[in-house]
Amino acid sequence: MMRFERKKMVAGNWKMNGNADLVKQFMLEINAPENVDVIVCPPFVYLAQFDSQPFALGAQNMSEHEKGAHTGDISAHMLKELGAEFVILGHSERRQDHNESNELVAQKVKHALINGLKPILCVGEPLDVRENGDVFAYVQKQIDAVVSLCSEDFFDKAVIAYEPIWAIGTGKTASPSQAQEVHQFIRQHLAKTNEKAQRLQILYGGSVNADNAKQLFAQDDIDGGLIGGASLKVDDFNVICQAAS
Ligand code: PGA
Repeated sequence: MMRFERKKMVAGNWKMNGNADLVKQFMLEINAPENVDVIVCPPFVYLAQFDSQPFALGAQNMSEHEKGAHTGDISAHMLKELGAEFVILGHSERRQDHNESNELVAQKVKHALINGLKPILCVGEPLDVRENGDVFAYVQKQIDAVVSLCSEDFFDKAVIAYEPIWAIGTGKTASPSQAQEVHQFIRQHLAKTNEKAQRLQILYGGSVNADNAKQLFAQDDIDGGLIGGASLKVDDFNVICQAAS
């Protein structure tokens, strides 16, 4: 099979962390290598405080609605006005804390694409699913719900992040071969319906840090990482960006 060169991507997910000082520090001290797509996803309220950064901005969630009576929600249009190009959707913490179903995540991804935001679609299994040997079926269901609702645009604009739930924030990273196995499965599954899957960036997330990033990113189907905890420390995040270059 032909091997496609894909640009590496490193996206930092601050989750509900950070403050105005961290925004300033990131604007001054992040060195984004030219051959890596670097994205920082702070909480909504800090997006507008970034004004001269050498990386793209992303949000961590978005409403599936255009506008209207949805107290506390933020629309795609608002995120774009704040400078966001990307939006993380379907993160396992939102699926857990806010009962976001595969169908709702699919609606959000579709809405992001229609409104010109690039979705970073998160998928990944809990520990019991891995222990039962059902990882591929679980992840396939999460992805199929989205792809079946979206147009061709998905393959042109979306990014997928495989984040096994048991590896998020636990310090238990998937081994490079465990992660590669799922990334390869995702790509091959998508390639059955659209050859553009060969160009899709598939990120790994779950306890990526300055020490393990290089080995993970060296795998054939791992095109970079979605970084939580280690994205809050400028030095570590810089090392992770370098590991992708
Ligand atoms: P972690 O989080 O790097 O802290 O494990 C990753 C994520 O949830 O995106």
